[in-house]
Amino acid sequence: MTAADHQHANAHGHDRFQGVPGLVIGAVLLVGRGAVSRLVADLADVGPGDRVLDVGCGPGAAAREAARRGAAVTGVDPAPLMLALGRRLSRGRTGRRITFVEGTAEALPVADRSVTVTWAISSAHHWADTEAGLRELHRVLEPGGRLIIIDLGPHQRDDVRVRLAHRWPGFSDDAMQSLIAAAGLRGGDPVPVPGKLEVRLWPATRLGAAEPVLPRELADLGLSE
Ligand SMILES: C[S@@+](CC[C@H](N)C(=O)[O-])C[C@H]1O[C@@H](n2cnc3c(N)ncnc32)[C@H](O)[C@@H]1O
Repeated sequence: MTAADHQHANAHGHDRFQGVPGLVIGAVLLVGRGAVSRLVADLADVGPGDRVLDVGCGPGAAAREAARRGAAVTGVDPAPLMLALGRRLSRGRTGRRITFVEGTAEALPVADRSVTVTWAISSAHHWADTEAGLRELHRVLEPGGRLIIIDLGPHQRDDVRVRLAHRWPGFSDDAMQSLIAAAGLRGGDPVPVPGKLEVRLWPATRLGAAEPVLPRELADLGLSE
């Protein structure tokens, strides 16, 4: 997919998160988001010292939960209105630990191996290119870093998909686990999340330990291989 394709696809998908519809969705996303925010933060074991990336952060409920736990947080979203709401709601001491940046899952504005935790909550069904999004999540995670995707399971509710402008009618465990594995991540067991529609949580980790840094002295003494 070219940059122009991304731009076109993103422009298409993001209208819903702008203007009056965006304000309505923003308000909806502010209500009742506490439980899912605490769930991802608990499962990812977020604490001080973590660098958390919330992909498709919307107005930032989960980003604020991570910041409250002492993490440094970046929220990425393509919709300027969502970012503006997030910034407005994230003032004070906790808010100072959150940076909101415009971008998409498919082209994250984040350096390689720079985060310890990343998640995407109810966002992947909007991505134009889910393979590219998962590859990006792998790229930005440090070795051993944790990923959580929360999204709808497969459904036939075309009314929901059309009304909410979803690109994808949810994901089966097989489909999401294949995406996770193809991106080079190790998937864990999916977890059902209570909700009106079937919602699933897929955990994963980036394989490998942090690369050892050889002490300069050893190298100087010729003791390195
Ligand atoms: C249903 S909202 C969820 C927001 C937030 N994660 C929450 O749970 O409250 C979906 C979000 O995904 C964002 N989004 C749409 N396309 C995206 C993409 N390609 N990459 C990342 N985020 C995207 C939308 O702008 C929107 O803020």
